[in-house]
Amino acid sequence: MTDYWIAPSILSADFARLGSEVDDVVEAGANLIHFDVMDNHYVPNLTMGPMICKSLYDYGVKVPIDVHLMVQPVDALIEMFAAAGATYISFHPEASNHVDRSLQLIRDVGCQCGLVFNPISSLDSLAYAIDQVDLVLLMSVNPGFGGQTFIPATLKKIREVRSLIDESGRQIRLQVDGGIGVSNIGAVAEAGADTFVAGSAIFNQKNYKKGIEQLRNELPSVPKS
Ligand code: DX5
Ligand code: ZN
Repeated sequence: MTDYWIAPSILSADFARLGSEVDDVVEAGANLIHFDVMDNHYVPNLTMGPMICKSLYDYGVKVPIDVHLMVQPVDALIEMFAAAGATYISFHPEASNHVDRSLQLIRDVGCQCGLVFNPISSLDSLAYAIDQVDLVLLMSVNPGFGGQTFIPATLKKIREVRSLIDESGRQIRLQVDGGIGVSNIGAVAEAGADTFVAGSAIFNQKNYKKGIEQLRNELPSVPKS
């Protein structure tokens, strides 16, 4: 049986104090640090590159760094983020001309790989990739910005992916990203997710420990998988 993981998205952190912000959420109970990479091409926003990932890694982040690539193309950045200390690297399949090659590249550089699906993106390719991925990330907002509202149709999609993962018999994290908060994290878990990205719901609180605890309190006692 798997356990629930909370992955604070540092997109909502105070970038002027990034190291101590990361320390604070790890101390508060974060299982992963979710690192949103945007290129002003695949999404209409620009955030952090591998240099910042490496700075945090060298500074000594005590949990795995979970890199969410919202960039196109992806392959060159996969290699750079692996060298910068990423543990998980996930990308949007439509951003790579050769999805199988990009997944293989992530494994070759020693990282765990994930595929990310936008709210209206079809899951078709996942059936062919299920034997390769370590993580599936379902977007519950359109990628590009923190602080957006959760799209409820994601719940149906979570259930579909949960079935695919269970049928595969493999250990695959089912992560959901966007608009997660106390009002919906319980339903997201009930639908079959086990890994929850939360940016504003954590970093907009004064007390991160309380923020993470409030999220955890809404989770059912037994995970679906
Ligand atoms: C959106 C990013 C998310 C975002 C989540 O494109 O992938 O990780 O930071 O932020 P919240 O939790 O505020 O919706
Ligand atoms: Zn993200």
